[in-house]
Amino acid sequence: MKVLITGTSSGIGRAAALRFIREGHSVIGIDVLEDTVSSANDVSPSGSYTHYIADISKKETLPDEDGIEILINNAGVQTGTQKDIDVNLTGTMNVTEKYAFQGKIRSVLFNSSVSALTGNEFPAYAASKAGVTGYMRNVAIRLANTYRATCNALCFGGVTTDLNRYVMEDAEKWARIMYVTPLKRWATAEEAAEWCYFMTVVNTFCTGQAIDISGGERNCADLFVWD
Ligand SMILES: NC(=O)c1ccc[n+]([C@@H]2O[C@H](COP(=O)([O-])OP(=O)(O)OC[C@H]3O[C@@H](n4cnc5c(N)ncnc54)[C@H](O)[C@@H]3O)[C@@H](O)[C@H]2O)c1
Repeated sequence: MKVLITGTSSGIGRAAALRFIREGHSVIGIDVLEDTVSSANDVSPSGSYTHYIADISKKETLPDEDGIEILINNAGVQTGTQKDIDVNLTGTMNVTEKYAFQGKIRSVLFNSSVSALTGNEFPAYAASKAGVTGYMRNVAIRLANTYRATCNALCFGGVTTDLNRYVMEDAEKWARIMYVTPLKRWATAEEAAEWCYFMTVVNTFCTGQAIDISGGERNCADLFVWD
C-alpha cells in the first residue's frame, strides 16, 4: 500500500516507516530533517521509501502525492509555545486536508497524546493534542460517510524518544511521571510503531476513537504539570 507518514526522521515516525517498509509497503516520509530511514541496514528490499523535506505547518511546502492509502499524522513538537499549536494542530490539519480525502484512502491515524485526555504536561502541548483528538472525530465522520475508511487517534503516554529526553534525563521529573504511571515504564518507539501498523492495517472496524496507550498514566494535577 502507499503509506504517507509525517515525522519519519526520528522516534515513532522512523520506527513506523521501517515497520511498513519491512512488510513491503511503499512509504513516503515528510520531515523538516534529512532522511534517516533509507540508511537503516535491516530494511527489506521489498518495500520502498521516498523522503521529502517539508514543514507541515507551511502547507505550501507539502509535496504533491496522489492516491495515499494510509496516512499517519505523526510529526509533532513539545515546546510549550505557540509552535505546539502551529505544528501539532495546524500542521496536522494541513496534511490531512491535502492527502486524506480521495478515493484510495483506507485509514488515517493521528499520533495525539495522553495529554489530550489528562491535561498533563505543557499547556500549549495539551491543547494542541486535545485539538487533534477533536479534529480526528470530525475526519472520522467525513471519511466514513464518503470513503468507508477508518480514522483514529493514538494517545501515547511516555515513549522513549528524543521528544521527551528532557524528562528521561531529569531524575525529579522521571520520578513524578513514574508515580502516575502504574506500569512503571515508558513504551519504546518500536512498540508505538506496532500500534500504528495495527490500527491502520489490521484494524478495519474501529473508527473515531482516541485510544489511551499510556501504561495507565493518570492526571495528577500539581504533580505533573511542567513549570
Ligand atoms: N515520545 C513521547 O513520549 C510521545 C508521547 C505522546 C505522543 N507523542 C507524539 O508522537 C509523535 C512523534 O513523537 P516522537 O516521540 O517520535 O518525537 P521525535 O522528536 O523523536 O520525532 C518527531 C519528528 O517530527 C519531525 N517534525 C517536527 N516538526 C515538524 C514539522 N513542522 N514538519 C515536519 N516534521 C516535523 C521532527 O523533525 C522529528 O523527526 C509526536 O506527535 C508526539 O507529540 C510522543
